[in-house]
Amino acid sequence: MTRRQCCRVWLVAFLLATAGHAEEADLQDLGRRLYRDGIGTDGESIVAVIGSPGVEVPGTAVACVRCHGEDGRGRPEGGVSPSDLTWQALTRPYDVTHPSGRRHPPYDARRLVRAVTMGLDPAGNELHVAMPRFRLSQADAAALTAYLRALEVDVDPGIEDDRLVLGTLLPLYGPRADMGQAALAVLRAWTDEINRAGGIYGRRLELRAVDAPDEPADRVLALDRLLAAQPVFALVVPYTAGAEAEIAARAATAELPVIAPLTGTSPTSVTPGERALDRRLERLSRQVQPSDHRSTIQLWAAIAAELVTEALELSGRRLSRASFIDALRGL
Ligand code: HEC
Repeated sequence: MTRRQCCRVWLVAFLLATAGHAEEADLQDLGRRLYRDGIGTDGESIVAVIGSPGVEVPGTAVACVRCHGEDGRGRPEGGVSPSDLTWQALTRPYDVTHPSGRRHPPYDARRLVRAVTMGLDPAGNELHVAMPRFRLSQADAAALTAYLRALEVDVDPGIEDDRLVLGTLLPLYGPRADMGQAALAVLRAWTDEINRAGGIYGRRLELRAVDAPDEPADRVLALDRLLAAQPVFALVVPYTAGAEAEIAARAATAELPVIAPLTGTSPTSVTPGERALDRRLERLSRQVQPSDHRSTIQLWAAIAAELVTEALELSGRRLSRASFIDALRGL
């Protein structure tokens, strides 16, 4: 091999290696979509076969997430328990016996695909009929496997084992400091109280409060800095007046729930929990007439805190942004 050929071979190998790295991340994203939405790598719905005798249905109607949950640990329903699909559980290095008595050795990628497409576990046992069979292309199978390998660490930002990080953006200095400090005092009292009682499902609430400058454009920058500094699960009672659209757009991109924003005008988009917030505010303000702007803000913050607490309690230990928003909508 000449020196030049050698160099070319090395270059190709290098390009392949780096391409492989990027592909792995893309593959996981594709697998995530398949798992959560039932969409295949070609952008179309995959095909699922349910029941016995089998009936074909679009995979979008029976996405894995519906039964196995966002965290892959399974949601028991109607007497059947969808299996724990975290890679650690699937690949336990010994025989696993399920509550149904089904027993099998560990999974690997090939056996996993066989289970999903043919309904057979590694021992060749037929899986319960409640588990659909899926038609997967090779690319779908690769994407799904890549995703399941990563599922355990795929939790939403701000959620940690022992704490949940929330953010807020309030005017803490300057002409509106009175309002900002009033809301912050309520939020601090709330998190202190929750934490004294041991947190919610073992997670302490940690509130990151950032000053919201008066100038709307500066406030958007302050939000960017907050999100860059630390993963935040949701924004509570942020001061968005004058920057509603920009902040809503930022939040949408980051999939960040915004709870009870302090808007100048009427809110530009419906935020989760808004109806419950309005109802409670109306009910409460009939009992306690807020005497001024400051006490109105405090009332608003207190009700928002109450709603967030309830939604977190409803979501349980396996919290995700999706479960939290669902819970808020249902309040
Ligand atoms: C309608 C509910 C439902 C949906 C949707 C569903 N599953 Fe299941 N799944 C189950 C149930 C229930 C079991 C347990 C079967 C048993 O114990 O025999 C199961 C078992 C499994 C197993 C076997 C693990 C073991 O315990 O041996 C795998 C792997 C699996 N599912 C993957 C998937 C994937 C991947 C998807 C999406 C492409 C999916 N499932 C969609 C209900 C579902």
